[in-house]
Amino acid sequence: MNTQDDLDELMICRLDSGRKTVQPCSIVIFGASGDLTARKLVPALYHLFKERQLPPLFRVVGFARRDKTDAAWRAELREALGRFSRTQPVDESAWAQFAANLCYCRGDLTDSAACARLRQTLDAFGQPELRRNLLFYLAISPSQVGLAVEQLHRAGLLEREPSTGWQRVVVEKPFGHDLLSAQALNTGLTRFAHEQQVYRIDHYLGKETVQNILMFRFSNALFERVWNRDAVDHIQLTVSERQGVGSRAAYYEEVGALRDMVQNHLLQVLALVAMEPPVSLEAEAIRDEKVKLLKCVRLIFPEQGARHVVRGQYTAGTVAGRPQAGYRDEPGVRPDSSVETFVALKLFVDNWRWSGVPFYLRTGKCLPVSASEVRIQFRPTPHVLFAAACGPKLDCNSLTLRLQPDEGISLRINGKIPGASVGVRPVRMHFSYNAEFGAYTPEAYERLLLDALAGDATLFIRRDEVEAAWTIADALRAGWAGKPLTDAEFYPAGTWGPPAANELLARAGHAWRNPQPTR
Ligand code: BG6
Repeated sequence: MNTQDDLDELMICRLDSGRKTVQPCSIVIFGASGDLTARKLVPALYHLFKERQLPPLFRVVGFARRDKTDAAWRAELREALGRFSRTQPVDESAWAQFAANLCYCRGDLTDSAACARLRQTLDAFGQPELRRNLLFYLAISPSQVGLAVEQLHRAGLLEREPSTGWQRVVVEKPFGHDLLSAQALNTGLTRFAHEQQVYRIDHYLGKETVQNILMFRFSNALFERVWNRDAVDHIQLTVSERQGVGSRAAYYEEVGALRDMVQNHLLQVLALVAMEPPVSLEAEAIRDEKVKLLKCVRLIFPEQGARHVVRGQYTAGTVAGRPQAGYRDEPGVRPDSSVETFVALKLFVDNWRWSGVPFYLRTGKCLPVSASEVRIQFRPTPHVLFAAACGPKLDCNSLTLRLQPDEGISLRINGKIPGASVGVRPVRMHFSYNAEFGAYTPEAYERLLLDALAGDATLFIRRDEVEAAWTIADALRAGWAGKPLTDAEFYPAGTWGPPAANELLARAGHAWRNPQPTR
């Protein structure tokens, strides 16, 4: 007889070989002295190397303006690994083997000789594959992206139709600051590279729990049947952060929460939660459905703004027992800044499946907990049996997809309170990643880098997706652009945003369910 464990083994259904095939290649990081390289990219490559996911033959070339030797760059990265690696202590022997493949190339993108030097560096490796297959990772400001691809093209390193091998460009967000600038950025990028060579990163798509949204929806008939306006009352999506802007004020002052989080991460999660089943699991099929969904999001025009959009900015307060300065007092922030650190939205998806169902989205800094979750709130029962005693107190079923931390899925149902008397209260059925799969938590960047190296674009954002998302964000922003914050738009750090965020839901008889702190 099979035990439960045997059954679980028998039921594993693999949709791929379990390993990505990556050909020998060179990875060139532009912005090699930056925070992202030290904090995310190199730790991710180190882990891929340790897990033997990188090909036996590879090089990582750091390209940046500062003058430094290979040894100095490696030493910097080793120090950063000690702080940022998800596994500690660092495996010195694995690091030494990995670091032997790292080298540094000094260069300024405005100098046309710089990419020629990069080319010489790649030629000097003396291995045809290291020169043929090239991944360019642009961890640089969006204003330099067009120039970078142009210089690469001039140096003969980036062709739309490479005669042999492959050449890919990975681009970090922000992809512009509105639709027009995104279009200009995309045009600059695709002057010298095909759209198929461009990999736009949204690190939320690299999270296991975000990828699981599609698996969960489309491999469980039970839930997909109720995933529509007939059964769903409304949907809440919360991405809350306890941290303030910290040392990123200069960047944040230019973007604010809507452009930093909603235009990309929240709309991507919304698209995965609400999209139609794709015709296959191929990258283009999934991306087609996401774009279709984004195009169905009703645009909110300025005159409707007040009923659909709430912005806020944190003032001094206490977060997790620690005092927190107000946003305007953070170093690098203008003392009269009206940049939003919080946004709450009520959106509608105008298609057959979701007609009339509100989607509430919110995100903010200096909120009480750091957590990301999606809550599907189902409609109430007809109240025939319990109406007299319970009335509206009878809880409606809900399903919470907890994206981070405490990754898992909870179904809230009602159950009888044990005992002679008759009482009902909500109880939870819970799936925890940790309990089920153990604490296997690769960083989003590991998965995304591996996919870009293997040429799998499923988890990257296509040009039309970015532009559809900007169309939504631009319409939302138009309502407040140029208007200073009013007193009612401030919230003390450590609270769930300004009161208007609650009123946004209360008008429809709804209420936010706040994520609980990590247990
Ligand atoms: C980034 C934003 O894209 O995402 C940051 O620029 C934000 O402001 C971060 O803090 C949140 O990512 P995560 O993975 O910590 O939820």
